[in-house]
Amino acid sequence: MDLIHSVDALRLRLQHEPNNVFVPTMGNLHGGHIQLIKIAKPRAACTVVSIFVNRLQFGPQEDFERYPRTLESDCAKLRDAGVDVVFVPDEREIYSEPQTFLVEPSDLQHILDGAARPGHFRGVATVVLKLFNMVSPHSAIFGKKDYQQCLVLTNMVRQFALPIEIILAETVRAADGLALSSRNDYLSAEERREAPHLYQLLCEAREAIAAGARDYQPIELDVMAALAHHGWKPDYIAVRRQSDLQPPAEGDRRLVVLAAARLGRARLIDNVEVNV
Ligand code: PAF
Repeated sequence: MDLIHSVDALRLRLQHEPNNVFVPTMGNLHGGHIQLIKIAKPRAACTVVSIFVNRLQFGPQEDFERYPRTLESDCAKLRDAGVDVVFVPDEREIYSEPQTFLVEPSDLQHILDGAARPGHFRGVATVVLKLFNMVSPHSAIFGKKDYQQCLVLTNMVRQFALPIEIILAETVRAADGLALSSRNDYLSAEERREAPHLYQLLCEAREAIAAGARDYQPIELDVMAALAHHGWKPDYIAVRRQSDLQPPAEGDRRLVVLAAARLGRARLIDNVEVNV
C-alpha cells in the first residue's frame, strides 16, 4: 500500500492505472468505510482512498478542530482491507490558494442538512470535484447514510459530464441498528445506548407509510416528539422524494425518511428509503 501526500506523487503513481476506483473519506475509519472498500475492490485494478478533513465543509461553530484524526489506525485498517493507494494531502496541497471558485449545488444546498449547515454541500462538492481531478477515477463510492450528499454528488457528476460512475452503498449498521459514523465517537456510554432509537423511529415511520399513511406531517411530528422526549434535539425529520428531496406530490412512490438530530455533543443523521 502506497501512502502519498502530494498531488504530483499521486499523479505519478496513478499514471499507468487507467482503471481505478476511489473512496473519498475524512478518516477515523469504521466498518462503513471498510464496506465501501469491499465494494470497490473487485471493480478495479487499483483502489484509492483519500483521507482529508475538509475545512470548507464545516461551519464556524462545527467540529472541524476536534474531528478525530487517527491516521495510524486508519492506515492499518486500509492495509488489511487491501487498498492500493492512500492519498493523505495536507491543507496546502488541496487549498494552495484561497478557493474562490466553488461548486454551488443550488437546488439542494438550502434544504434539510443544507439549511442546518449553511455552506456544507458547497464545501463537499468543491472538494470532491478537486479530488476527482487529482485521482481521475473511473468510479467512486459513497455511503447512503449521507443521503443528501449522495444526491449532490450524483447530480454534480451528471451536470458536469464527469466520466465517473458513482456507486451508492447501503448504510452499515451496528447490531442494534445505529448507523456507523465517525461522529458516534462523540457519544457517552449512556447516549450510545439511546442512539439506536433514531433508526427505530425511522423504521416505524417507514412502516406507517408502507401501510398506507399519506399525511406525512403527523408522522414527522411524532418522530420529532419521541426524540425530544428521549433527550434529543431534532434538526429535522422529513418525508421526501428520493429523486430530489422535495416534499412528495400525490402519486410519488419512491420516498425516503430523513432525520438529523443532536444527542449530547453528537449530531447524528440517518434515513430509510420506502417504496410505496
Ligand atoms: O462523506 C465524507 O466523508 C465527506 O463529506 C467527503 C465525501 C469525503 C468529502 O469531504
